[in-house]
Amino acid sequence: MKKRSLVSIDDLSTDEIIKILDMAKKFEKEPTQNLLNGKVVSTLFFEPSTRTRLSFESAVSRLGGKIIGFTDASSSSVTKGETLNDTIRTVNSYCDIIVMRHPIEGSARYASEVADVPVINAGDGANQHPTQTLLDLYSIRKTQGTLDNLSVAMVGDLKYGRTVHSLMMAMARWNTTFHFISPEELGMPPEYKLYLDNLDLTYYEHTDLNEVSGKADIIYMTRVQKERFSDPMEYEKVKNAYVLRRSMLGSCRENMRILHPLPRVNEIHYDVDSDPRAYYFEQALNGVYTRQGILCFLLGASN
Ligand code: CP
Repeated sequence: MKKRSLVSIDDLSTDEIIKILDMAKKFEKEPTQNLLNGKVVSTLFFEPSTRTRLSFESAVSRLGGKIIGFTDASSSSVTKGETLNDTIRTVNSYCDIIVMRHPIEGSARYASEVADVPVINAGDGANQHPTQTLLDLYSIRKTQGTLDNLSVAMVGDLKYGRTVHSLMMAMARWNTTFHFISPEELGMPPEYKLYLDNLDLTYYEHTDLNEVSGKADIIYMTRVQKERFSDPMEYEKVKNAYVLRRSMLGSCRENMRILHPLPRVNEIHYDVDSDPRAYYFEQALNGVYTRQGILCFLLGASN
């Protein structure tokens, strides 16, 4: 079988995305299946993670595979000066697939070119987070019944937030109307707006969430990515730009759902959690089923 990596969401055709979502749906009904018996999955996390790493580990465990890896680059030989190239060439021979998170944009593509086994990008800097996108698509399709013709409001740090970059590129396939709500200095980067322009898709930019919340099928909140700021004062200026509170949901559609890739810091008040439109913890659970689907798809197993 030809090696397939997942570095950008555009590495998958629309049919392949739907296939993975359909596999995930079956895993939701029957999560424990011995489809990766004998397979070894490496998780190389050069940046912190709770959901991505642990949902991958849960997915592998439920599929009968084994996990090796590190959760912190400081416990690896990177601290002795080993290059990413040498790390990947070494780990490559210990496993059947690599899941990697790294702070440098483009690192996952580089790793996929060095490795003989498939590489899954679990987030590379401010660039892409395609497995998050697949679980976001799963959550959107599950709650809205379709991916077609939806209105999606993306809120917060659209400059450094890799989840919104990947999700925007994916949702562009289903005639989505986008609303980008951010402080001016954290707006959607020009290359992503050009991506939509080239597809003749409509997007609107706002600074006030209340202007658009009543029109949205999905409100996708994001954290301001403190770790990407070189100047702490710049972070302080924008860190609380948007705080979603239950009192702001009065004009929102009944079937609207609030998503957030998590972790949240302050951008969704705890009083939203009890609103039936809050969906972010279910969304995190959907990550297990979706990552089961991704692993099986890339390793040629079928449920
Ligand atoms: N959504 C997400 O990537 O969460 P973690 O950073 O906890 O993996």
